[in-house]
Amino acid sequence: MTRIVIAGAGRMGQAIAAGLHKQDDLELLGTWQRGDDLAPLVAAADVVIDFSLPDGTTQVLEAVAAHSTPLVCGVSGLDAAQMARLDEVAARVPIVYDRNMSLGVAVLEHSIREAASSLGSDFAIHIAEVHHVHKKDAPSGTALKLGEAAAAARGEAGTGSVTFESERRGEVPGDHEVVMQSATESLTFAHSVTSRQVFADGAIRAARWIAGKSPGRYAMSDVLFGN
Ligand SMILES: NC(=O)c1ccc[n+]([C@@H]2O[C@H](COP(=O)([O-])OP(=O)(O)OC[C@H]3O[C@@H](n4cnc5c(N)ncnc54)[C@H](OP(=O)(O)O)[C@@H]3O)[C@@H](O)[C@H]2O)c1
Repeated sequence: MTRIVIAGAGRMGQAIAAGLHKQDDLELLGTWQRGDDLAPLVAAADVVIDFSLPDGTTQVLEAVAAHSTPLVCGVSGLDAAQMARLDEVAARVPIVYDRNMSLGVAVLEHSIREAASSLGSDFAIHIAEVHHVHKKDAPSGTALKLGEAAAAARGEAGTGSVTFESERRGEVPGDHEVVMQSATESLTFAHSVTSRQVFADGAIRAARWIAGKSPGRYAMSDVLFGN
């Protein structure tokens, strides 16, 4: 039985807790909420799943480093210093970090790399995303991840020349559209989430996968496709 602690009791934390109750091989030890003592929870866990927010992740990283507890982190909006710390901790602890835990986006990212590399810099790349009104970061972590993949495929640093557009509307779980356009043609990729349970299912799959792995930073493509 793999013992899981969830960091963050928000929309995603609750969806993961609901999903864990249906697993025979995974046990939910507890959920870390603001004001709780994190260390004893992490010390007792086999895997921590972090879907808090960036200031919560800072604390989670120190706790998993202290207890060598594998981590699955889906928090978006981490700054450069937090990402650097995540990489330092991943040198000693296995971590799956991904700003989108869905199978569809892993496939989309792969397709975008191929298309951006094949089409070259004559094509402008624009990413539009729509999320629920509660989402705090913009552009979304997924939009940035897709933008970084497209830019890297063209030899550009960061998100390079990719442009972004964000809309916050109602309770939309997450829509992304990537358009590659030249003067003479246009190619559109679209991904739409119909339930945030897809992210929870991905996080649970990653938690099962990361238990017992060697230290290192992994992505959902590693979990899903074994890259
Ligand atoms: N990777 C993916 O596939 C994926 C999918 C969806 C969302 N996300 C990301 O996951 C994160 C959470 O999303 P969400 O929709 O669940 O957000 P949410 O509903 O706002 O929940 C965040 C939770 O984290 C808690 N938290 C924040 N800082 C904390 C701290 N320092 N100590 C303890 N608890 C803390 C919040 O507690 P309070 O209420 O007390 O602030 C809240 O319960 C966001 O970064 C989002 O972008 C990723």
